[in-house]
Amino acid sequence: MLKLSGEALQGGMGFGVDPKVLTAVAREVGTAAKQGVEVAIVVGGGNYFRGTSAWDGLERATADYVGMLATCMNALMLQSALEKQGVATRVQTAIEMKEIAEPYIRRRAIRHLEKGRVVIFGAGTGAPFFSTDTAAALRAAELDVDVFMKATKVDGVYDCDPALNPNAKMHKRLQYNDVMTQNLRVMDETAITLCKENEIPVVVFNLYTPGNIMRALCGDANQGNPAGRRGQRA
Ligand code: GTP
Repeated sequence: MLKLSGEALQGGMGFGVDPKVLTAVAREVGTAAKQGVEVAIVVGGGNYFRGTSAWDGLERATADYVGMLATCMNALMLQSALEKQGVATRVQTAIEMKEIAEPYIRRRAIRHLEKGRVVIFGAGTGAPFFSTDTAAALRAAELDVDVFMKATKVDGVYDCDPALNPNAKMHKRLQYNDVMTQNLRVMDETAITLCKENEIPVVVFNLYTPGNIMRALCGDANQGNPAGRRGQRA
């Protein structure tokens, strides 16, 4: 399971999708898929709209639904970018919009993965008050994936924000509980709890470093994870 934040897709543009970032991601995911790794993707929507930072007067549930629609735009563009790389894909959405994508059907998603198609999930969990990290953890558990790969704008999990503190220290390895007790904010608690309860290893890596998706999949010593072999599911 590869979790891509919408914000990461905007690259240096500040809004929307940077075609260069999208193409680079598609190329790397394509390399993994062509090597036989089964890849599922949940994409966020923060490059268009973020439910949690909506203005006063817009109720949270509505804001979250708008955010879910934003993820679907990213899912469709990612599908297009992947298909340009010759990768077979299917988009499934948690809110039915069947003129543009398949509805989410767990067993169907699994068959797509088994057939070597990259499956992109849009519309989060389909319910408000959940993050797309939680959607990714939920789908990861449902699909029984080998690894949860969280793509970020930094190299890993730090003890404090590396953008604000140049002395921030990166953690090489953490227990699930550490994320909660040390309030590390790499993922929200619902997402990390789902990963913990289902024993899904989480790898956090920098999306902008070329080769990192494959490195994370193949189990770089620093990132130490079990996926990346033919027939593995991520
Ligand atoms: P197999 O049964 O493994 O061949 O899977 P498949 O996805 O190729 O079969 P299907 O004939 O169901 O789908 C063909 C195309 O239609 C694919 O691109 C699907 O994503 C798309 N598709 C299937 N169901 C829906 C749907 O409900 N809405 C939309 N928009 N597309 C769909």
